[in-house]
Amino acid sequence: MQVVKYVFQAHGDERGQLVALEEEKDIPFKIKRVYYLYDTLPGVTRGYHAHKSLEQILVCIHGSCKIRLDDGHEKKVVALEKPYEGLYVSHAVWREMFDFSPDAVLMVLASELYDESDYIRNYDKFLEYVHEREQQVEEG
Ligand code: TYD
Repeated sequence: MQVVKYVFQAHGDERGQLVALEEEKDIPFKIKRVYYLYDTLPGVTRGYHAHKSLEQILVCIHGSCKIRLDDGHEKKVVALEKPYEGLYVSHAVWREMFDFSPDAVLMVLASELYDESDYIRNYDKFLEYVHEREQQVEEG
């Protein structure tokens, strides 16, 4: 599984830093929704789902956290600890967010509005979904 981490341009000067994110330019899709997680309690892991079509970019704009990505074959853990880094998470990837620092603010830019029917929240169903998609590709 390829991990795609963006390093956004920071416009720094003697006053500090500024990062600007434009859809279809810095972000590889049209941004329909922004949400963010904060005050995450110690030891909490959240996520535990995949999406059928949603694409996202995760930016830990303050503090740090870790993201576990799983494409049904391979798992990788990515640390997000810089406000100028963005992790691209494609559809059909199981994700878990954990190891939040007490001050962490995890901002998510999403390609679609919130739609519960796009979620796969059961891990076995996720594996079935991945294997069905692979069979469809093989069969053309
Ligand atoms: P949840 O899916 O449990 O978050 P996570 O996957 O990060 O653990 O979402 C928590 C609640 O917030 C749940 O009631 C659904 C709601 N929610 C929205 O209303 N809109 C959104 O864009 C998101 C991501 C969640």
